[in-house]
Amino acid sequence: MTRFDAASRRAAHAVVDALFDHVEHIDERKVVDWKPAAELRELVRIGDGGGELTSTIRPLLDYAIQLHHPSYMGHQVCPPFPTAVLADLLISTLNQSTAVWEMSPIGTVVEQEVVRWLADRAGYPTESLGTAVSGGSAANLTGLLAARARFNAEHSGAKRPLIVCGGDAHYSIARAASIMGIPVSDVLKIATDEQHRMDVDALAEMLQAIDARDDVAVLAIVATAGSTATGAFDSLRELAELRDRHRTWLHVDAAHGASVLLSERLRHLVDGLDRADSFAWDPHKMMWMPLSLGIILVRNGIWLRRAFEADAPYLFNAERASDNIGELTIQCSKRADAIKLWLTLQTDGAAAIATALEKVTDVTRHLYEVVKASDDFIAMHEPDFNIFCFRHRSDDATNARLREALIRSGEAWITSTVLKEQRVLRVTLINPATEHEHVERMLASLRALV
Ligand SMILES: Cc1ncc(COP(=O)(O)O)c(C=O)c1O
Repeated sequence: MTRFDAASRRAAHAVVDALFDHVEHIDERKVVDWKPAAELRELVRIGDGGGELTSTIRPLLDYAIQLHHPSYMGHQVCPPFPTAVLADLLISTLNQSTAVWEMSPIGTVVEQEVVRWLADRAGYPTESLGTAVSGGSAANLTGLLAARARFNAEHSGAKRPLIVCGGDAHYSIARAASIMGIPVSDVLKIATDEQHRMDVDALAEMLQAIDARDDVAVLAIVATAGSTATGAFDSLRELAELRDRHRTWLHVDAAHGASVLLSERLRHLVDGLDRADSFAWDPHKMMWMPLSLGIILVRNGIWLRRAFEADAPYLFNAERASDNIGELTIQCSKRADAIKLWLTLQTDGAAAIATALEKVTDVTRHLYEVVKASDDFIAMHEPDFNIFCFRHRSDDATNARLREALIRSGEAWITSTVLKEQRVLRVTLINPATEHEHVERMLASLRALV
């Protein structure tokens, strides 16, 4: 199909029906039906055209990791809301490139509106700026680039920049540093406390030691709000005070956790986020947007602008400077992904997201209580939000084997990580359709595999 006509319209309706049928009957399937790569490759070999659309997509539906399944409790990739999925079709159809105002006036203002709405939720001032990016990794890099713009303005090359982050910081922080030419040895890790948060006293000590040196200075303290491993939230208010005392930049990787701002009940977890100099927020995680939509927000937008000053007179002309989103981001061709969130907010409202956030938090809490009451599993921490690690009361090898056997069975999908040098089982409750019975069944399946 190369035209929008009656035939492609019929095909589009058929695809929508196939997708809705797939999701509506998802719990009749396994969470994943594993096949070796060689067999999968045979199913998707590229032919010479002529394939019928709905039968051609069948293997994609059959052999996907079924994120809509209520027993999917794996990584932080969500089963997206249908409004946002439909928005994806709209975005692709219009194909607006939002880096340059004159190529996408309506896409530009939608993104600006979404960014402003999110900044307002965080209590950021009017001089803040932000952009939609591909996700948390790009948002962290962008926040650190803004931090470097200010670092360079202050130190003019006189000091070597250091980045200080928690021991559980996402790997994208070290990767951002190396992209920026900062060696990994200059990314200093602070130990985490009992609750897996950055140890504030240890940070204070390290900052003092760095201040006493002439050759280096801190480019940014990087906190985490909703850590990948345990969902822990650093004490942002205390970290902001240290930032003030040591006159540096506080970037918060709130890719996972910033969405709690939408829930009256949960927003206390990010108390102090408004004081960060920049933060990452991924609507494609806990706002149920399909991949991809990440957001970077910078409290004083001037540093975001300075990070991306570019000489491209064929794209950006001085009179329209403030409307070209491309002046605030790495991207040039830039999908209008903010439309997904805009449409969801316009039709379902933020309350729908808050309800889902509270639901997944409650089910996580239930799992924690059940694990705590059991005599064969042990809770590794008390979950604040929707990530929880636990462990079978045996050895590392057994825990690793249990996870592998469970996901191979297709009965549930969980992850595993290493926490304080122990192999643990890890879940992210990210499907609002997951009920108490599903997490109980997941535990029962693990038990049966011991
Ligand atoms: C805390 C945190 N930061 C950043 C990321 C990276 O986000 P993305 O995968 O959208 O690049 C993740 C991903 O899981 C994360 O958990």
